[in-house]
Amino acid sequence: MSTWQMLEYLFDQIPYMATIMVDKEGKVIFINKTYLRILKLSKKEVIGKHIGTITPRSRTLVVLKTGRAEVGYNWIVNDQHLIATSLPVYENNEIIGSFAYSIFLNIYEAKNLVEDLLSELNMYKSQVNCLLRSKYDFDDIIGEDQRLKDLKFLAAQIAHHKNTTVLISGESGTGKELFAHAIHNSSCRSPFPFVRVNCAAIPENLLEAELFGYEKGAYTGANKEGKLGKFELANGGTIFLDEIGEMPLSMQSKLLVVLQEQIIERLGGVQPIKVDVRVIAATNRELSQMVQEGTFREDLFYRLNVFNINIPALRNHKRDIPILVNHFIDKLNSRLNTHISGISKDGLDYLCQYHWPGNIRELENVLERALILADMEKSRQLGRKHFNLSDYDRPELLSDGKPGESLKAMIEEYEKTALLKTLEKTDFDKKRTAAYLNIDLSSLYRKMRKHKILS
Ligand SMILES: Nc1ncnc2c1ncn2[C@@H]1O[C@H](COP(=O)(O)OP(=O)(O)OP(=O)(O)O)[C@@H](O)[C@H]1O
Ligand SMILES: [Mg+2]
Repeated sequence: MSTWQMLEYLFDQIPYMATIMVDKEGKVIFINKTYLRILKLSKKEVIGKHIGTITPRSRTLVVLKTGRAEVGYNWIVNDQHLIATSLPVYENNEIIGSFAYSIFLNIYEAKNLVEDLLSELNMYKSQVNCLLRSKYDFDDIIGEDQRLKDLKFLAAQIAHHKNTTVLISGESGTGKELFAHAIHNSSCRSPFPFVRVNCAAIPENLLEAELFGYEKGAYTGANKEGKLGKFELANGGTIFLDEIGEMPLSMQSKLLVVLQEQIIERLGGVQPIKVDVRVIAATNRELSQMVQEGTFREDLFYRLNVFNINIPALRNHKRDIPILVNHFIDKLNSRLNTHISGISKDGLDYLCQYHWPGNIRELENVLERALILADMEKSRQLGRKHFNLSDYDRPELLSDGKPGESLKAMIEEYEKTALLKTLEKTDFDKKRTAAYLNIDLSSLYRKMRKHKILS
């Protein structure tokens, strides 16, 4: 096989590329099968003919004249859209012909692709809308305790003031997120998004981009198209800054500016963008103490603390345990597809004696486990035996502190041991570990990073 034949053979094998070659007079000396198919001609009808008689507007003729390549132009032959390139062929500095190749742009396929992509995009849009909708309202906050009822009343009043910033504090698992959802849902912002940002879960160097977004090519590694920040995403609605106590100081000052001006600037952006967003922040840390320690900005604290909703720990409203238990039995029955009808008196007494360090989340987790156990033994009622709160005990305390060791260091060490022991107990199942310790998964990750525990 000669080199020429080999080339012909190769070009015939490429179904989506049309190729043609002409000599310096413009006579066709080579054409591949794909191009013949598009032209609806046979080889005989083309070879040796002037290209002007086959495709009169061919740019290959221009190339023969100018000696310069024509690259990437649109080329339509028999309703086929092609992207074509015509190159001059030189020998000893003299033009001896031109070689052209075109790639199909099958417009119909492209249209189908675009339609598929659009319907996929719409699906994601509606999913995002669902995700951005807040889930709970005030009726979902169960409790008859007077303090809790007062808080619900206060929160419902604040909800109507659509621009008022709210700070929700309380121990882990007390229902801070529930309150945030309820405030959004009963405000006039409810048709707009509710966007949650977990300040503890996002690495410090990404937090700014996450909150404010960035322009195209703002930094290396960034998405080429730029990215909308959570503030813009929440426009018209509410942004819920969860675990605000974990926000690094550098971001705290930027957040303060946004709260004061209601204006954000994207990373790498030049124009400030006006946003209309209510901020609800939540924390289980003592922010006022953090202010004293210098780890939380005082001015931001006051700016956030316009309205403070401090949710009581469950051990301080134990009288709500019976209604919470019934509420969760109903809720869990439908989620777990179980048929538990209630709880025995000794079971309830046992729950009422416990101190609930993980608050209502812990109660829900304990009940979930009990429902599964009771269901496995085909029992319809929860009883004392279905609760083994010692399972939920914290790992035993370390040896006594060494002389001179600070309380803080001891607590840190204890925390690390507690994490390691629980991780071991759950075979490093992070979800279960977080549930055992009654902390958020994100808090668990943060603490694991802090103690350099590899996951
Ligand atoms: N008053 C309540 N009535 C009904 N369910 C509640 C109540 N409070 C909390 N819960 C439930 O307890 C769980 C934990 O609540 P939530 O996530 O709001 O706690 P949190 O205070 O944000 O905790 P963390 O600080 O760990 O993030 C959720 O499943 C929530 O539905
Ligand atoms: Mg929370």
